[in-house]
Amino acid sequence: MKIAVKKGDDMHLHLRRGQILRSVIGFTSSQFKRAVIMPNTGPPILTAKDAVAYRDEIMQYQVGDFQPLMTIQVTDCTTPAMIEEAKEAGVVAGKVYPQGVTTNSQNGIANFKAIYPALREMQNQQMLLLLHGESPDPEVFCLDREEVFLSTLANLAGDFPELKIVLEHITTEKAVLAVKKFENVAATITAHHLLLTLDDVIGNLISPHNFCKPIAKRPEDRWTLRQAAISGNPKFFYGGDSAPHAKEMKECSNGCAGIFNAPVALPLLAQIFAKYSGFSFLNDFISKFGADFYGLPQTKETIILAEKDWPVPNEYDGIVPFMAGKTLRYQVID
Ligand code: DOR
Ligand code: ZN
Repeated sequence: MKIAVKKGDDMHLHLRRGQILRSVIGFTSSQFKRAVIMPNTGPPILTAKDAVAYRDEIMQYQVGDFQPLMTIQVTDCTTPAMIEEAKEAGVVAGKVYPQGVTTNSQNGIANFKAIYPALREMQNQQMLLLLHGESPDPEVFCLDREEVFLSTLANLAGDFPELKIVLEHITTEKAVLAVKKFENVAATITAHHLLLTLDDVIGNLISPHNFCKPIAKRPEDRWTLRQAAISGNPKFFYGGDSAPHAKEMKECSNGCAGIFNAPVALPLLAQIFAKYSGFSFLNDFISKFGADFYGLPQTKETIILAEKDWPVPNEYDGIVPFMAGKTLRYQVID
């Protein structure tokens, strides 16, 4: 059996630069028409000029009509003029990492008030604010970091009512409730958070390739995320958070957070939606709700998936994909 699904939007993607970018870009450009590109590269994307150079690098590879939607990282040093320049250069959003919460976020912010002038300008310029929603306080237990962040979200949503805010890669029931509460807030949901709980990371043997930030939580959180994703609520849309790291950076002490799910994105989403809701809301989740929230035209193309067992390879260029060695029920046919 074959099914046509939309070639839509991955609203949260890490591509890195150089060799890794070259290795991974094709997985996304073959399954999605557009993707929101995260700025936590080394060095980070902080200015309009950085974003343009990064976009040029992405476009160098054979990516067909794929459109990278560029972001800059907003830090204590981001001025309103930098926001204005970024908007002029086509940057769609500013990403904020609280300090030290994840990969390459040492330059993140400690105090949100310090970036209020930048946020005000983003609101004026109709640029979106993308939040890594975890508390940077090292005293906060890791499973509680998202929940503790929600009071900051409430302040931001209230202080900037015209600013569109995306709470990225949500993992908890509490986050789902918060997103529903604030009119100007939406959320991305990854495929891996629809599948994993903490048990899949450390419940038996340790599984570094299931380790990401925010870490997968409890079964009831996963259940609530699934309901949000399949319910047809336009506040929740797909952002894969594919985050490639070389195998040896994952399989070691101090292993990096990040799940490389780009190769399996659409087959996995098809499998999840087939199991929990039928396909009715899959197209909206990957091509309508995100585009609408970002104020972009919806994509029109479709892509064909076959219902056919697909053993996921163990590695792609030294990077281990999500579900490596497992068999998925769908496969992209090109
Ligand atoms: O697991 C993660 N990996 N979470 C993030 O927020 C960043 C990402 C990365 O860049 O590796
Ligand atoms: Zn991310």
